[in-house]
Amino acid sequence: MDLFAWVGCVDTSSPLIFTVVFLCGIWLLGSSGGPSNWPPGPKSWSPIGTAKAFLSNDQMYLTMTELANKYGEIAHLRFGLHGHIVVLTGHKIIREAFVDKGEYFANRPTFYAEYTHKGKGILYAHGNDMKLLKRFTLKTLKDFGVGKSSLEEKMIEEVGFLMGEIDSKGGLPFYPKPLLANAVANIICSMAFGQRYDYDNEEFKQLLKSLLIATQNGGAKHIPACWLPTRLHFVLPQLWDVINADRKTKVFIRKCISEHRESFDEDSLRDLIDIYLKAEKDGEESGALTDANLFQVIADLFYAGSDTTSTSITWLLLYMIRNPDVQKRCREEIFQVIGQDRQPCLKDRGTLPYMEATLLEIHRLGSVLSTALTHTVSKPVKFRGYDLPEGTLVIPNLYQSHMDPEIWEDPFAIKPDRWLDENNKLKTNPAFMPFGVGCRMCIGETLARMQMFLFGTALLQRFEFRMVDADNPPTTEGLYGMSRVPYKYELLASAT
Ligand code: HEM
Repeated sequence: MDLFAWVGCVDTSSPLIFTVVFLCGIWLLGSSGGPSNWPPGPKSWSPIGTAKAFLSNDQMYLTMTELANKYGEIAHLRFGLHGHIVVLTGHKIIREAFVDKGEYFANRPTFYAEYTHKGKGILYAHGNDMKLLKRFTLKTLKDFGVGKSSLEEKMIEEVGFLMGEIDSKGGLPFYPKPLLANAVANIICSMAFGQRYDYDNEEFKQLLKSLLIATQNGGAKHIPACWLPTRLHFVLPQLWDVINADRKTKVFIRKCISEHRESFDEDSLRDLIDIYLKAEKDGEESGALTDANLFQVIADLFYAGSDTTSTSITWLLLYMIRNPDVQKRCREEIFQVIGQDRQPCLKDRGTLPYMEATLLEIHRLGSVLSTALTHTVSKPVKFRGYDLPEGTLVIPNLYQSHMDPEIWEDPFAIKPDRWLDENNKLKTNPAFMPFGVGCRMCIGETLARMQMFLFGTALLQRFEFRMVDADNPPTTEGLYGMSRVPYKYELLASAT
């Protein structure tokens, strides 16, 4: 449904209607609140505001880049009466806001999360409880297995299942995303619930379907919601999809948590849920570990950690089939260093510079969370000379930072060598921030990088991936939702 279609129905050529619309516009603008020195941006008399144009584009980060080209690295848009959006473009200004002045840009908008998250968990929460939960979850992820051999074994085992599924395609074309989503979600399931699921398990399939709907329809796509009073958000159809999908995801999680409660033994902690239950019982983290928060944190790990990583590997395979020379160099390096008799493991990190540089290129080119997750101003702040009131929505254009021709030569091309210095060592670049920066930065970076390495190297070691029709390469444009996903494509896989 086009939310704005009704505007076109008004015949503004009638003087009376024109006057009414004009006066309403002035009234609405006057009551839009906030300071008089907003950053520069388009002006509009429309009660809907100036954000409409930038939301009509599926690839919002491109429209945001155009906005920056016109108005500069900080630009302002208005949505309806109360929605003020500030768009930040360029790594310097993003770091200045989220790192140097992080405490002022630390909140999240609550709009649709009112229905799904209810201020609980990490992703769409803020305040002290969220900080305690985030710290606790980071520590638990670390203690429980990230970087440890037990988790590595699970990942290597899961890669084995994934490769079996790819083998079973018998060389016929297939779309890799669903298989990758199964495999990556199983890593979170192993960590959170202590078990993995077969790819044809109906309950698991339903969970993945719901996660996909929630992430594809989530993220900054919901900014129109700030045009409406909170209790009316439900009229947005894309919100309904998210709410329904979230409900189904939570049925699954609720069942797993209650099974854990029944079999809980504090002397034998099996997984993340057990660790939370123990900490909740012991009253750790000043009471932030409530039942509701536990439930939402597990859901958040699925939302934030499952689709992002499987999408990144889907980008990897897409760029590999489009660039067989890069794929060949990665494989030659893997064969040379590891051979073909064993699967890659984490100890191999640091020994495959070209492969690892390729993975960095994929994070840059894929820019999976291209506009991060929307922030809001947590307390009034003077920033770059502008007064930003509490509640202002802040969107960082990470995609532009990864594609800025001033920083990256030939930015749309995959060039792993750009990450290697003269000694074949990996280089960093301050404009590279696929996991965000500052206090709302991703907590899953280590886990995601582990998975990208183990999955990526094992797949390229075992299979050669090719395009189905070399004359019609699949596009590298992305579909925009909570994450930026490649358009559906098929590939061929043959054993090396
Ligand atoms: C390639 C994979 C991943 C990418 C590109 C990615 C990227 C990001 C980005 C850009 C943010 C938002 C930062 C901001 O709003 O400023 C974020 C937040 C978050 N990520 Fe990740 N992420 C990935 C994987 C994971 C994994 C595996 C987990 C956990 C299992 C995870 C958990 C989270 C959580 C909980 C947040 C919210 C942090 C907060 O609100 O304070 N992510 N991620």
